[in-house]
Amino acid sequence: MVKIKIDGIEYEVDENKNLIDAVKDVGVDIPYFCYHPALKVVGMCRMCLIEIENVPRLQAACNTSVKEGLSIITKSDRVKEGREGTMEFLLANHPLDCPVCDKAGECQLQDNAFGSGKGNSRFEFTKRNIPQEEIGTNLIINHNRCIVCYRCVRFEEEKVGESNLGLFERGYHSIIGLAKDEPINHNYQGALADICPVGALLNKENLFKSRVWWYKNYESVCHGCSTGCNVNANVRDNKMYRYMVREVPENNMYFICDKGRFDLDWMNENRLLSYYKNGSPAKSMEVFPEVAELWKASSSIAVIGGAHETNENLRSINMALDTLSTIDGNKSVLWESRATPPQYKETEQVDFLLTKDWHPNTAGALGLNLTTKQELKGIVGDFNQGKIDLLFVIKEEIPSDINPDRLDRVIVLETNHNESVTKSGYSLPIRIFAEEGGSFTNKNGLKQDFPQSMKPIQGLLSSAGVFHRLLEEIKNPKKQEALVGNN
Ligand code: SF4
Ligand code: SF4
Ligand code: FES
Repeated sequence: MVKIKIDGIEYEVDENKNLIDAVKDVGVDIPYFCYHPALKVVGMCRMCLIEIENVPRLQAACNTSVKEGLSIITKSDRVKEGREGTMEFLLANHPLDCPVCDKAGECQLQDNAFGSGKGNSRFEFTKRNIPQEEIGTNLIINHNRCIVCYRCVRFEEEKVGESNLGLFERGYHSIIGLAKDEPINHNYQGALADICPVGALLNKENLFKSRVWWYKNYESVCHGCSTGCNVNANVRDNKMYRYMVREVPENNMYFICDKGRFDLDWMNENRLLSYYKNGSPAKSMEVFPEVAELWKASSSIAVIGGAHETNENLRSINMALDTLSTIDGNKSVLWESRATPPQYKETEQVDFLLTKDWHPNTAGALGLNLTTKQELKGIVGDFNQGKIDLLFVIKEEIPSDINPDRLDRVIVLETNHNESVTKSGYSLPIRIFAEEGGSFTNKNGLKQDFPQSMKPIQGLLSSAGVFHRLLEEIKNPKKQEALVGNN
């Protein structure tokens, strides 16, 4: 930490941070556009102008080192005039698009125009008008809104490792465009729209779906892979509409990938809300007693999957299984949480964020020792040979090499309709992670809590709830019948 003066008052700030972030920590806001904490500083936009004691000209804060004894002025007539000038230049050609722009409500240009702009325009000429273009498989550029901050170009070069975008022409004619003839097709088109401080880059997928102020925001964790990126989950009418990045510098979380960002429809659509028996809808009061009878008649049971579940659910299921294993004599109960090849290996990255393990909580499941010596292959082999009597599958595909004649002894716990639901003997609907809240442990062993962000429909059990309900059914069948009523 070092001591610096801001507007005449001494503060202790972190010298390892950029000046913009260091002063933000002590409650001083310096407006900016081109600066981004995870990208190199270029000092292009001139929005962050400040005075530095004994330096004659206004300086860019983003480009000023934080060092002991630094004395800066962020509020003075000169600073105000400088920032107003910058805003006037940026707005000269910017259209009055806010009522129809998807960025409205979370746009830095709106914020900075409000906080540092003049409030009126002297621009009397015809504004530049360039047609909108599709520059990616899921990306549109509205050139008129671009303020040429260069963030998009730098993000691609520094983080994605591709150079699809470039800045062409000069001055009034400056334009961000494709450097090659092909559209952008990488896993970070959402991040490009995110990082654009204005509404110039937009994703087709989200276009005009909702105004941002209609969302309820929940600080959550992405479910898409073992990286566990931090997200703001935007929910409206109990539907998951949008994931936006939640910057958490301590965890080095600044971006999210498209695989996670746009994998949301399954939470809202095609949900499994009915019990199934032999491929047809059935009532829970019929399914639970029958599964309970199967359990009682089995001496060896296996569970596969679970790495999509929260740590809390996994622990709770484990407790239920412990008790269930001692009912009617000692039963062998195995639980293998690793249902796909990447879960058996060290983390393999697909790109700088996405991993090959598309489970958010493999590390949590491994931490609870939910593994077997036989591994998945051995369990499937034993089940096929009748050495395992009953097989539970938690939100995974039924392994393709399962003996089809034994599918009536497979019990699937699922959130969505899929082939496993109709193939298995019994299928039981469960809540999704967003309807639960809890924690996931990521590939680095970081346990991250998240709140419930969607309400489950009445009566829908969690995966843990299913096993506890089964336990109750076995312990006290009559009471359960009365409780379930006509479900
Ligand atoms: S498109 Fe957006 S991110 Fe790219 S230069 Fe223009 S304003 Fe900046
Ligand atoms: S890298 Fe993984 S956790 Fe991060 S956004 Fe993509 S899918 Fe989600
Ligand atoms: S944020 Fe400093 S010049 Fe753009």
